[in-house]
Amino acid sequence: MIMRNNSGQSKDSVDESRRSFLKGAMISLFSVALGGISLERFFVPTTRNVPVTSYDGKYPTAILVDPDDNPITASEIPYATPSSSSYPILVFNYPLQDEPNILIRLRNVNIPKAIHIKNSSGGIDSITAYSGICQHLGCTVPLLDYHPGNSIPFEAQLIGYNKSNWPTYGLIYCKCHGSQYNPIEGPHNLYNSGPAPSPANHSLPQVLFYHDTTTDYIYAIGMNPVNAVIRTHLWQPNGEVYGPEVVQENLSGGSALPYDDSLGNYKTVVVSSSNFKWSGRF
Ligand code: FES
Repeated sequence: MIMRNNSGQSKDSVDESRRSFLKGAMISLFSVALGGISLERFFVPTTRNVPVTSYDGKYPTAILVDPDDNPITASEIPYATPSSSSYPILVFNYPLQDEPNILIRLRNVNIPKAIHIKNSSGGIDSITAYSGICQHLGCTVPLLDYHPGNSIPFEAQLIGYNKSNWPTYGLIYCKCHGSQYNPIEGPHNLYNSGPAPSPANHSLPQVLFYHDTTTDYIYAIGMNPVNAVIRTHLWQPNGEVYGPEVVQENLSGGSALPYDDSLGNYKTVVVSSSNFKWSGRF
């Protein structure tokens, strides 16, 4: 017997459509789960969330050295001014291997959380470093690079930058999709909201330095905790992780820096780009 409901539909046809709906929903859920699993497997290294045990849960203290293991002194790092039209790419890994950071020294500007040293004209220079991993989708140096005040990359000109609106000390600019970071702002360096649309747009994590004023040596001692985690180490897809979890995440899923017995510290080698040598060093 065919039963009819209030709308005149037969019960059999209602059950059939309900069955089809449930079947469709199950398939969709299964597909989403399967897609999630395969995406997770694609993006996440197997070593993820395995802390580098030699660091003992803390950021390592790593002295900055040149490729011959000679410590680098703060006063010899080349500096950029607002009229500079080029600056060498100076890169070192921290807090893990294969995690590049861009080393920058700017004349007569006070960058928060940077090393500040007196310069020859009586002003203050700031020495700082930012993660060389773009927080949009993870492009690295040299695609992400510092372009000083008198050097506007062609890609930035295409989106409307010119001499009148390029910031005085330039920008760290990512040629992948146009994300911009202002190097004079310290921890809060995301500029112009990205502009690449992404829920994961953040400022570049800033390296914290210790400057030994006796030797003039520079030590990396941590990453600024107000920043989100380094892009390749996100706990969550949108990367909103702060506080103690940042430390744990930043020290996970990679290799420790080399330890140098003669220096009594971890060390990280500063290298420069092949097309603009740091004269006197490399
Ligand atoms: S990865 Fe840098 S802008 Fe997209």
